[in-house]
Amino acid sequence: SMEEFHVSEDYGFVLPEPLTDLPEYFKPWLDISKNVPELISSHSLRLKVHNMPLLETHLLQSHRELRLAHLALSTLTMGYVWQEGERETIKVLPQNLAVPLWEVSQRLGLPPILSHADTVLANWKKTNSDGPFAMDNLELLITLPGGETVQGFFLVTLLVELAAVPGLKAIPEVISGVHYNNVAMVTKALNVVGQAIDSMKHALKLMHDYVDPSIFYGILRIYLSGWKDNSSMAEGLVYEGVQEKAMEYSGGSAAQSSTLHCFDELMGVKHEGDSGAFLKRMRDYMPPSHKHFIENISSHPSLRNFVLQQADEHLTYAFEQCLSRLVDFRNYHINIVTRYVTIPASRAKQLRVSGQESAKELGTIGKAPTALEERGTGGSGIMSFLKTVRDNTKDGLSNSL
Ligand code: ALA
Repeated sequence: SMEEFHVSEDYGFVLPEPLTDLPEYFKPWLDISKNVPELISSHSLRLKVHNMPLLETHLLQSHRELRLAHLALSTLTMGYVWQEGERETIKVLPQNLAVPLWEVSQRLGLPPILSHADTVLANWKKTNSDGPFAMDNLELLITLPGGETVQGFFLVTLLVELAAVPGLKAIPEVISGVHYNNVAMVTKALNVVGQAIDSMKHALKLMHDYVDPSIFYGILRIYLSGWKDNSSMAEGLVYEGVQEKAMEYSGGSAAQSSTLHCFDELMGVKHEGDSGAFLKRMRDYMPPSHKHFIENISSHPSLRNFVLQQADEHLTYAFEQCLSRLVDFRNYHINIVTRYVTIPASRAKQLRVSGQESAKELGTIGKAPTALEERGTGGSGIMSFLKTVRDNTKDGLSNSL
């Protein structure tokens, strides 16, 4: 069942009802992490972190406490590292932050860096608890510089995750339908998967209304960046009090969302080469039970072979519909990335070439870091990665169905 993998019937991979506060003892962490944008703009976050007490993590008990602690500490870490932009990064994360972040990460099986599991899955609250999951009834618990654009970016992504839930619930139906040779059951469940992917695309469209490209690119994006495959943190980061040698971790990436990994495994979409390796590595940035849920899907007999063997018109159509909706979703994602990364990046380069040196002339976009113009915050070669992944999905359609 889904519950044994901590995948919720109602929320999918989204953490149900995240806690909004920790026990009083942890007040120093939350006081600082709830003010990260202000503390960065006054250049005082690093100082606040230096003055933070070293707290005992064994006093954290429930999974939800640990998730809020991870969200808070990893957000502080991003603010600490990138407070002064890409030119004045630091080499060492001080132990009063590094040690608790490390311990909480170990207990959760998450990496000691801000990831999708933090910013999106465990970072929401309904304004009116009886109200709907809608943009005007949702808030973030912890935010980063960039104002409403940050809310928009994380909450629209949350709505995409929630739109996937009926499709995730249909996966066990598909699997047992194949097991029992029940063509009607598989067809019906695949139709639900296809509809869910379509509603994910509709949710993703909200990005345009809630996320401003120059604020996303010029202000928020650096705080999602990591210390692996990033030339401005080429040596990685020393987690003081954890180990002396620097460690490298990738920044946030939608590839850390378990949802499309599940649909790919179900549909038999194969990712090889660099993009396959990146996707595989990103599974280590997911809650381990979610990674196991994905692996469990691929351990069952192939749906694709079943569809080929049965040669049933409706079944084949339902299968093809799912694949083409996955392709559509990925094409739409490429459009979004074009607007929010590729176009602002080329504008920023133009500004530099034309010698607009003063901060005022460079504007929000011109002040963005240069290290990630061609890369995603997760470190992939962003456009070629997304196009390869899209093309691999298309291959599932053309290969002899
Ligand atoms: N991964 C997204 C980016 O590259 C957030 O900007």
